[in-house]
Amino acid sequence: MHGPQWLERGMKHVWLPYAQMQTALPPLPAVSTQGRTITLADGSELIDGIASWWTACHGYNHPHIRAAVSDQLGRMPHVMFGGLANAPALTLASRLAAMLPGDLERVFFTDSGSVAVEVAMKMAIQYWLNRGRTGRTKLVAFRGGYHGDTMATMAVCDPEEGMHSLYQGALPEHFIADLPVDARSTRALDALLTQSVDSIAAIIVEPLVQGAGGMLFHSPDVLRTLRMLADRHGVLLILDEIFTGFGRTGSMFACEQAGIVPDIITLSKALTAGTMALAATVARTHVFDAFLSDNPMHALMHGPTFMANAMACACANASLDLFERGDWQDQVARIAQQMRTELEPCRNLPHVVDVRVMGAIGVVELDRIRDMNALKAALIAQGVWVRPFRHIVYLTPAFNITAPELGKLTAAIRTVLAHPV
Ligand SMILES: Cc1ncc(COP(=O)(O)O)c(C=O)c1O
Repeated sequence: MHGPQWLERGMKHVWLPYAQMQTALPPLPAVSTQGRTITLADGSELIDGIASWWTACHGYNHPHIRAAVSDQLGRMPHVMFGGLANAPALTLASRLAAMLPGDLERVFFTDSGSVAVEVAMKMAIQYWLNRGRTGRTKLVAFRGGYHGDTMATMAVCDPEEGMHSLYQGALPEHFIADLPVDARSTRALDALLTQSVDSIAAIIVEPLVQGAGGMLFHSPDVLRTLRMLADRHGVLLILDEIFTGFGRTGSMFACEQAGIVPDIITLSKALTAGTMALAATVARTHVFDAFLSDNPMHALMHGPTFMANAMACACANASLDLFERGDWQDQVARIAQQMRTELEPCRNLPHVVDVRVMGAIGVVELDRIRDMNALKAALIAQGVWVRPFRHIVYLTPAFNITAPELGKLTAAIRTVLAHPV
């Protein structure tokens, strides 16, 4: 391995994500970022096509975000949220409540997407317990879904991708259904709810795009069906907008495209525009009200140490300023248009089975990727940072990416996929 000393030394001690450590390629030593560019230790630059797992929606090192974080760092980096309030967190809660549809008004802060989903699951289950309804402890989740890597969230991921069999016996069992995309699957879900409603607390779904499950798109009708079925059977609806939230699908939140309001929504990733770890679980008034009681056991028993971290919340407020000031909607529409035009030719390349675009998400799906490491290396050799996974090569760039930068990314994908890997 050739690289800076810290890489060689540290690689003996670090455990990488989703990696078979015996065969994994060493990670690239990133030393700085600017805009849409990642600079490596040897001075080479990569155009980032995926914005660090879809988070850096305004590009890296945005001066407004940097100023907000440094200002907060000088003033008060963090105080515990138990018994102490901080202005950035309370301001952010009010702003999120104002932005979100309907009466999604009560914000619970955490520090990662998985934990935000766990909190949503706890809220849903305890909602019923507090109302005297025992036994409603299961969720309905969907094939192709992804909600995190912790024990509780793995149990509501796609059974194969979520590694249910690997952890058999360790994960709680929930209902995993097909998304109601047609009459048959809608009837099946309706029947499941009829039969098992007494054990079900909530339905959980990623709206419009099942991200880590393979960037699978569905129509807003599916969300309307889910809202209708949740209402018909009296179960809660949780929308996990950790991937889709903050403009990625073309609307600020994906649920707006369906005109529905979930009972609970989870947010993270682009919440701080990729600068700091922060997540939020936001509940509607009727969910929150179920926790108001003389009984101390009816409180939501959760409170991460770094909950509502002042720097992370200042960072999120700065990102929301940029959304308010900026023309993100036009930028996303422009990215969608350019990706449609420039990725479409991939349809004729070997092994490509689909090309699809929604908002600032562009996907080239293959029937197989034989040598993932070779594919990744070939993309890097083109000067781009694109991380294929499963059978897909995808782009989720920063919204302020320039047309030439995006052009370089799409050209790299066309070039690399022209030679089967
Ligand atoms: C829809 C969705 N939910 C939950 C998560 C988990 O978030 P985190 O990795 O921050 O725990 C992710 C992460 O990719 C996600 O895309």
